[in-house]
Amino acid sequence: MKLMVAGGAGFIGSNFIHYMLESHPDYEIINYDKLTYAGNLDNLKDIENNPHYHFEQGDITDLVRINEVMQKHQVTHLINFAAETHVDRSIHGGIKDFVLTNSLGVQMLLDAVRANKIERMINVSTDEVYGALKLGENTFFTEDTPIMPNMPYAAAKAGGDLMCHAYYVTHKTPVIVTHCSNNYGPYQFPEKLIPFFIFKAMKDEPVPVYGDGLNVRDWIHALDHSSALDLLLHQGVDGEVYNIGVDNERNNLEITKMVLGILGKPESLMTYVADRPGHDRRYAIDASKIMKLGWKPKYTRDMFETGLKETVQWYLDNTEWVEKIRARMSEINQHIK
Ligand SMILES: NC(=O)c1ccc[n+]([C@@H]2O[C@H](COP(=O)([O-])OP(=O)(O)OC[C@H]3O[C@@H](n4cnc5c(N)ncnc54)[C@H](O)[C@@H]3O)[C@@H](O)[C@H]2O)c1
Repeated sequence: MKLMVAGGAGFIGSNFIHYMLESHPDYEIINYDKLTYAGNLDNLKDIENNPHYHFEQGDITDLVRINEVMQKHQVTHLINFAAETHVDRSIHGGIKDFVLTNSLGVQMLLDAVRANKIERMINVSTDEVYGALKLGENTFFTEDTPIMPNMPYAAAKAGGDLMCHAYYVTHKTPVIVTHCSNNYGPYQFPEKLIPFFIFKAMKDEPVPVYGDGLNVRDWIHALDHSSALDLLLHQGVDGEVYNIGVDNERNNLEITKMVLGILGKPESLMTYVADRPGHDRRYAIDASKIMKLGWKPKYTRDMFETGLKETVQWYLDNTEWVEKIRARMSEINQHIK
């Protein structure tokens, strides 16, 4: 397999590349990434000299460059992680970049799949495209739940997903769409909840909790997300949608207290701040469709504490990675509206 990984320098993409090089040492991995503020080649430093790993800088909205890289490396498969991903940034400015990358970029990749006779593409997407569930209800997102995004980020992602469906129906383009729940693990950019709280608490700074802190997300380790995508690359069915999650619903207060507890920091660091506009109350995934294919996640609900402890420890151990990001944070925030 000659697998192009779009957005491989980000959080989940870099976890996925590590996972694939370990699980399939004979595959060629081509990391195609624009290196936006969220892209970080330090995530892949330990494998940069692996002869099966190649980095190509490029934008997924640039069809000429995608075709050039696909032809150069004789790419056979494509998985797309490239996206503008930070929900808060999609609310407070810069929404155009979200639409360009998350919607138009996917269409460009689909055109490249057709032009280069790629055997399979996976478009990695999010459960946020389904909108929100109510707290306390025994309801879950299935693959048949209507697409009803509430956030501009999620609406732009949904645009890309729907284009995949349309290309499959119209052109028989071999594409699969996945909707995964919230990820945690190493290499996550510290604008996202878990690393953000770890970074704050490590410095004894206040940890800001949105609203009443009772919003629920369904947390999955990035390595389990990676094993699910690996399975779908090989055993998924073209034109299908698969939900990915491990039935691990937790509210933000619970996550915050767990992170503070693992770090040995007092709960008095928690401060409540004004809620995010339109903040979806609850996400929960029904993953029975992919489970039927034989997917076996490692960090199931009863292993969450272990996964979170390992994640916190990773940030504590990788001080050089953390300090380099810290140094870039204020500059990044100045340049991104
Ligand atoms: N993080 C989560 O909890 C989560 C949950 C479900 C789904 N997802 C989806 O998984 C994917 C990866 O998420 P992540 O958290 O790793 O994101 P991330 O922000 O950490 O990484 C995104 C990567 O995409 C690259 N990129 C951005 N725009 C690009 C463009 N136009 N061309 C090429 N590269 C570009 C960036 O440089 C970066 O390396 C996204 O599509 C996201 O919607 C994420």
